[in-house]
Amino acid sequence: MSANILDGKLVSATILEEVAAEVSRIGSTFGQVPTLATVLVGDDPASAIYVRKKNQTCEELGMYSIHEHLPATVTADEVRATLRRLNDDPDVHGILLQLPLPEGLPEEELLTLIHPDKDADGFHPVNMGRLFLGRPRLVPCTPRGIMALLDQYAIELPGKSAVVVGRSNIVGKPLALLLLQRHATITVCHSRTVDLAAVCRQADILVAAVGRPGLIAANYVRPGAVVIDVGTNRITDEAEFRRILGDDSPRRSSFEKKGSALVGDVEWRTVKDIAGYITPVPGGVGPLTIAMLMRNTVHAFNIQKGIDG
Ligand code: GUN
Repeated sequence: MSANILDGKLVSATILEEVAAEVSRIGSTFGQVPTLATVLVGDDPASAIYVRKKNQTCEELGMYSIHEHLPATVTADEVRATLRRLNDDPDVHGILLQLPLPEGLPEEELLTLIHPDKDADGFHPVNMGRLFLGRPRLVPCTPRGIMALLDQYAIELPGKSAVVVGRSNIVGKPLALLLLQRHATITVCHSRTVDLAAVCRQADILVAAVGRPGLIAANYVRPGAVVIDVGTNRITDEAEFRRILGDDSPRRSSFEKKGSALVGDVEWRTVKDIAGYITPVPGGVGPLTIAMLMRNTVHAFNIQKGIDG
């Protein structure tokens, strides 16, 4: 039997509609709309596409966006100056520093420089600390999007076993905390985990967030489990395409034309017949990340206006 699809596009469309309505209410009340500033350093093509999409979505919802593009040769002091200027600008409500930064720039220090009230990504230690304490405010967008997706499909969490593969600060760690807050029993796996497949097979909810194309194969998945695929890996190898998506994949002609395809960390071909629910790549977790960034920007606006709802 084929798994039910967790449709991130559909759920994100509903969230974006809600955010647009909230932006319109804010506009009437304050005569001002939430504004997101994005900062991109260097010329990584994937990052440029992501940031453009974020700016575009702001505008589609009636918000403003400001984009700062700094060259890869920029000094840390110049990035600091940009972030300080945006912190001090009362017309900027959310700030996002696109990662990864070019080598040599002090990522952690720069993220900490963004004012916690304007931290649209929720990466500041103050916001991470609040999440750790079970009093979340601005929460990282991808984990928040995954929770929204689970809720939309009424996936039960209390007492369930949730296994998160990957311990990044952006996804794995904050997601584990959100799941814990909802009374799931959590296990966080990483490169040193012994017998990863056996640990994953214990999961009622299995989240793959490691950036390894098709790592999670059928023998990692308990029948009926909920499988969330956070991976976005571009592959060019034909054999890998066939292993992950199958010979008869409807995406084959696009792969042949472009010479590449975007795949997740899950071996879709085999896992889709075992899981109870599964997110596709693309169209699963990705669209929810942007929707939650929009929601965080509105939340940041409200925090700055003293209405931290
Ligand atoms: N790079 C990959 N994902 C993200 C994200 O969620 N936020 C930022 N700022 N950079 C990223």
